[in-house]
Amino acid sequence: MVIDCERRGRRVEIVRTISELRAAIGTWRAAGETISLVPTMGALHAGHIALIGAALGTTDRVAVSIFVNPTQFAPNEDLARYPRDETGDIAKLAGAGAHLVWAPPVSEIYPDGFATRIVPGGAALPLEGVYRPDHFGGVATIVCKLLAAATPHVALFGEKDFQQLAVIRQMVRDLALPVAIQGVPTVREEDGLALSSRNAYLSDDERYVAPMLYKAICEVARGRDPHEAAEALITAGFTKVDYLEVRDAETLEPFEPASGRAGRVLAAAWLGKTRLIDNVAC
Ligand code: PAF
Repeated sequence: MVIDCERRGRRVEIVRTISELRAAIGTWRAAGETISLVPTMGALHAGHIALIGAALGTTDRVAVSIFVNPTQFAPNEDLARYPRDETGDIAKLAGAGAHLVWAPPVSEIYPDGFATRIVPGGAALPLEGVYRPDHFGGVATIVCKLLAAATPHVALFGEKDFQQLAVIRQMVRDLALPVAIQGVPTVREEDGLALSSRNAYLSDDERYVAPMLYKAICEVARGRDPHEAAEALITAGFTKVDYLEVRDAETLEPFEPASGRAGRVLAAAWLGKTRLIDNVAC
């Protein structure tokens, strides 16, 4: 079923199935238009809206997928409580100027008998790969399927999930997928906290402490010892630091300062039951 939702004069088409999506995209392609896909899991915030803005500046048409992908959550993670607000998301996307929203049910993506999974190595193995061993397999599989269904010219992802972006770039390179991957800088609150749908889990006290993560990685980017910065996070009220490290910005291998390559400071740390990740260039 195709529904039209109009808001602030913008018309956004909402589709559920791959065949509806392909029909819409096929019409645009037949007219010679270029197409972006912005994959999301919904619960949209200003970071997602920045992705739409970048996509609108890049291609003629912008399609946005909303799909909370179960295969990238471990059984002990927050799939059941992950924030969902499809009506609110669609209104935000219409306001932002997106042309099409693809919000498939789980059965459309993982029908009975679905039995294929991409297992990424390389950039997927360290950091998040250690703490969430199956996560990037789920991400790579769903992103590959979203790209195969939508056939965009460009797909955009936030640098907030920097390792995810590296894994997707690697997959697209390795599998020669015909799409350009564009990273978009992280959007932050005034106090530096990176926008994330999971910030909604933070209590007032945790929210007060949370910007320390950004402060800590910025200090490491300026030369502070990462172990010292991790200890400072615990002193500030973080419960646990999974990692705070400087890595090669492309391969995610340990950073060699003499290599002349770009480095990236990446961190994951817990505030109570909420795990925050962030990263900056160095
Ligand atoms: O970054 C996200 O929101 C998700 O990991 C993605 C890329 C939409 C895949 O489910």
